[in-house]
Amino acid sequence: MLDGVADNWTDSHIHASQYPNAGIFGKSTLLDWLQQYTFPLESSYGNVKSPMYKDAVEPPDPLARAKKVYNRLIDRTLANGTTTASYYATIHVEATNLLAQIAFDKGQRAYIGRVCMDRPETCPDYYRDETTEETIANTKASIKFCRDLDPSGELLAHIITPRFAPSCLPETLTQLGALAKDEDLRIQTHISENLNEVKLVRDLFPDQESYAHVYDHHGLLTSKTILAHAVHLSKEEMRLVKQRNSKISHCPDSNSALGSGLCPVREMLDQGIEVGLGTDVSGGYNPSILDAARNACIVSRHVGFLNNGDSRYNLGVAESLWLGTMGGAKVVGMEGRLGGFEEGMLWDVQEITLGEVDEDGQGEDTAVDIFGWESWEDRIGKWLWNGDSRTVARVWVGGRLVHERR
Ligand code: GUN
Ligand code: FE
Repeated sequence: MLDGVADNWTDSHIHASQYPNAGIFGKSTLLDWLQQYTFPLESSYGNVKSPMYKDAVEPPDPLARAKKVYNRLIDRTLANGTTTASYYATIHVEATNLLAQIAFDKGQRAYIGRVCMDRPETCPDYYRDETTEETIANTKASIKFCRDLDPSGELLAHIITPRFAPSCLPETLTQLGALAKDEDLRIQTHISENLNEVKLVRDLFPDQESYAHVYDHHGLLTSKTILAHAVHLSKEEMRLVKQRNSKISHCPDSNSALGSGLCPVREMLDQGIEVGLGTDVSGGYNPSILDAARNACIVSRHVGFLNNGDSRYNLGVAESLWLGTMGGAKVVGMEGRLGGFEEGMLWDVQEITLGEVDEDGQGEDTAVDIFGWESWEDRIGKWLWNGDSRTVARVWVGGRLVHERR
């Protein structure tokens, strides 16, 4: 067995509530996927009238469902080496707070978002906040719960979460921007993931120059904002994102699965925009950031192909690992505390083991076979391309052992 330590993984964009749907998306694309798969599942964590319960024999217990899913999901992400995650929960305060409690108890570093959505034209009747007042009051309740759990905010904090521009009333967007400022909190949302979504934003916000301007206009484009996807940003929008020092979560698994498009990560890095990786479960089908790093490499090669085969666009192994670790640390505002091994940094670490093949061709099944003659650089390449949770031996967050492979 070959042993090494790797730094923390940060999953800068993951929907905890959607985990049961990982791998379930058929041929859908973003907007129909939300209606067909996502809203029914998310609503089932707090609404007994959720379409998911239409054939229920027993009276549904939404919170029991949330508990089952969130316990499993946190174990699963820890087993994959995710030491820090920025989570979307659902609109329900109780189930969102339960996610916070479970992440905190299991010791994962987590930012917990109660999902804000209250625009009747875009949100189903069975799954939305009724008014701006309700959205803000429920968000405040979850902020308080998270603060009471971890007053320092170092291990656990609330993150303001307007689902995306189309799902919120304009007044709600404004008030959420003000709330994030007053409470000095991170913000997470989606931007420019899918072309139909971009068109929807143009139709719903005709006075705004672009999707990025919608967020900027409502005070949501801050240095603590994590924008997921950013597949179809214009050059001007990239400049605005850079100017505001907002961050990007690149979600290649999801962008490929939902056919959203090819995110030009190299262009964003060239502009000096901070980029990290997100699994975007369950737009993404896999809760592993190693898998996201792999897909970041693959997608970048397709971007290169579309740019006259220019290999400048290709992300290398070291670069994509950097995006999942140091890039992620910057995206969640933890630069200098996470993402490296320098003195004074937090001990958020995964121990990786690779299998050693013996003279008879036998070896332990840790997903990666090392024959003995590979350089360290090549071993890391083999890990990136073939590793999975079997290569994760132990995981620590803030010095606490939070996962040990059985
Ligand atoms: N846009 C709005 N909601 C969602 C979501 O749940 N997942 C993804 N990938 N995009 C979204
Ligand atoms: Fe998402």
